[in-house]
Amino acid sequence: MPVMAADHELAQKSTLNEILKRGELRVGLDAGYMPFEMTDKKGEIVGFDVDMAKEMAKAMGVKLTIVNTDYDGIIPALMADKFDIIISGMTVNQERNLQINFADPYIVVGQAILLNKKHEGAITSYKDLNDPKFTVVSRIGTTGEQAAKRMIPKAQYKSFEKESDGAMEVVNGQADAFVYDLPFNVVFMAQQGGKNLVLLDKPFTYEPLGFGVKKGDPDFLNWLDNFLTQIKNDGRFDRIYDKWIKG
Ligand code: ARG
Repeated sequence: MPVMAADHELAQKSTLNEILKRGELRVGLDAGYMPFEMTDKKGEIVGFDVDMAKEMAKAMGVKLTIVNTDYDGIIPALMADKFDIIISGMTVNQERNLQINFADPYIVVGQAILLNKKHEGAITSYKDLNDPKFTVVSRIGTTGEQAAKRMIPKAQYKSFEKESDGAMEVVNGQADAFVYDLPFNVVFMAQQGGKNLVLLDKPFTYEPLGFGVKKGDPDFLNWLDNFLTQIKNDGRFDRIYDKWIKG
């Protein structure tokens, strides 16, 4: 029967089927985005996204392989089939969504500011930084960079290859402010903030984070959305959240 044959072919083409056949889920991420993916003292990549990926592989009954990939090239790497899915704290924005599909968001974050302590009290919002006398930094290819350029257009802007290097620039007093996702800034503040930084912790953008997959794969998306609904309601998501974010 032609209709059934066509359905069968489509299902065969889903990344989901390839994962099951291979017995392996390949997850693309860029380690360094605390607390979602980072390298621990033993050199292992750990974090919120890694635990989500582990639950995912377990639910599929396959082994998990992490493919550490530079954030700036992570969408092209997905398209080139270097891995099956992006689980890398990726903000679902409309520009990226023209290239790839996203499962339903798993968490919502927003941009926040790490400020050099010398500005404490004088600068209370991103708006106060909108002046050419200030230098604002973020990481290349991220929504932090986009927000800095779009919402603080008059400040000097400097881009970094790694989020931690950008934040260190503010610790060292080379820059005035670091613009990045709030959860990262909270962890960085706790680790290095001490005497040198102030955290402006009111997010000023709306950023849902989602798993990214190739376009044209409804089977995979359907599986991912139902997986998310399940873990969000059976305690698994809360356990991961409490371990990496609340705790
Ligand atoms: N949410 C931000 C974005 O989508 C930053 C994510 C950075 N992720 C990473 N794994 N380094 O641009």
